[in-house]
Amino acid sequence: MKRRDWLKISAITSIGLAFAKNTLAKTAIHYNRKYPFSKKDFGNEFIWGAACAAYQVEGAWNVDGKGASIWDTFTHKKRKIHNHDNGDQACDFYQNYKNDIALAASLNLDVFRFSISWSRIFPTGKNTINTKGVQFYHQVIATCKKQGIEPWITLYHWDLPQELQDEGGWTNRKILHWFEEYVDFCTKEYGDVVKNWMVMNEPAAFVGLGYMLGYHAPGKKGPFNFLKATHHACLAMADGGRIIRKNIKDANVGTTFSCSPVEPYKNKTNNRKAVQRIDTLINRLYIEPSLGLGYPYDGFPALRRIENYFEEGDLERLKFDFDFIGLQNYFRIVGKKAIWPPLVWAKEVPASKRNVPKNEMDFEIYPEGMYEILKQFGQYDGIKNIIITENGVCFKDEIVNGKIHDEERIQFFKDYLQNILKAKKEGVPVNGYFVWSLTDNFEWSEGYEPRFGLIYVDFETQKRYVKDSGYWFQEMLQD
Ligand code: GAL
Repeated sequence: MKRRDWLKISAITSIGLAFAKNTLAKTAIHYNRKYPFSKKDFGNEFIWGAACAAYQVEGAWNVDGKGASIWDTFTHKKRKIHNHDNGDQACDFYQNYKNDIALAASLNLDVFRFSISWSRIFPTGKNTINTKGVQFYHQVIATCKKQGIEPWITLYHWDLPQELQDEGGWTNRKILHWFEEYVDFCTKEYGDVVKNWMVMNEPAAFVGLGYMLGYHAPGKKGPFNFLKATHHACLAMADGGRIIRKNIKDANVGTTFSCSPVEPYKNKTNNRKAVQRIDTLINRLYIEPSLGLGYPYDGFPALRRIENYFEEGDLERLKFDFDFIGLQNYFRIVGKKAIWPPLVWAKEVPASKRNVPKNEMDFEIYPEGMYEILKQFGQYDGIKNIIITENGVCFKDEIVNGKIHDEERIQFFKDYLQNILKAKKEGVPVNGYFVWSLTDNFEWSEGYEPRFGLIYVDFETQKRYVKDSGYWFQEMLQD
């Protein structure tokens, strides 16, 4: 089962079912300089970065006192990953961080977004601190600063400590306390130097895939797990925001959401109503509570059952006024009315049936979707600043004499960036773009085959090669 199946198909069908169930080359290659835009068009305040996540790059899964996370356990035992790959070594960022951050700087990026591995800091998830793990992130941060790159930290990018999962993980309300302890520690420890923080990465994805469908760690299933984990993730997101704000003076506090434009197949009236329910699950469920709108029952009435897990004061506690929201868009969803599954009564028409361009993971390449999603999220009251905290594409990269001529990826960036610019010119407050990803890395259930990096990684030798798309950014971003 592919990840896209959650966001494109399974999120829809299964929820319904469930409710009824280096090497840096020194010389830049000169590209076609005909950009459809220039860096200046985005304005001086616009920030340019690349993103990654601890489990996808670090490796060193049991080194220097790190405890096991649910992803270590899942990849070792469950063997649900393509080719039986795992993140034991990944890009060995644990050893290679200096080189990788230097590469990011060489591409003229302003920002490096990475996540902290909770079980590197607290091996069992709570109480006992692992000083070597704490030190590692100090070094990563110091290296960023030395290279003139701003570190942006995600506190939770899916790698929950295994011992917390043994007590129920995100389905146990005690997670609110464990998460609070972890966020409090990290923000006090690193907050003097790091000002830009994201509480979570895509709650829709880690809750949906990990606690509803079981395709991601921790491999749990079912609607009750899903509803409980959703509610706890939303509460923890707001709590996390409050802790960052309390502990760090001048913090820029955000969190990130996956999002996809959802459209009715052939624009038929029957399909229009059906896709509203998909939109609710995919785009609205996790952001609206933080905006003070509560859960979006109007778009999907069965969600009301989440109130079974409410305690007094929760509605208020769900609200948090984020300084920015991170949006992460990879594809569009086209849906139509269906007689199955119940409650959703809608299904996706996959890209393969629509004769549209796709990437290696069968995600539809639909640049206008970036504009559409920016307009959709930009309409909410209370959104002050939007950063595209992830966007990117995987293609079959071929390395020939140490070079990767990934023209298709360059075209992808040009097209998506042009749509961001269009939305910005129309007043959407979008002020940053982070490529997913700096280097090729471990793509969750898809293993190492999909390559999203601006930098190619030979996973056997750990050698890095800047792709032509990396050089394209280097040239476009030079002052
Ligand atoms: C995002 C996720 C990233 C990365 C990316 C590419 O949803 O946050 O970790 O896997 O997808 O598919």
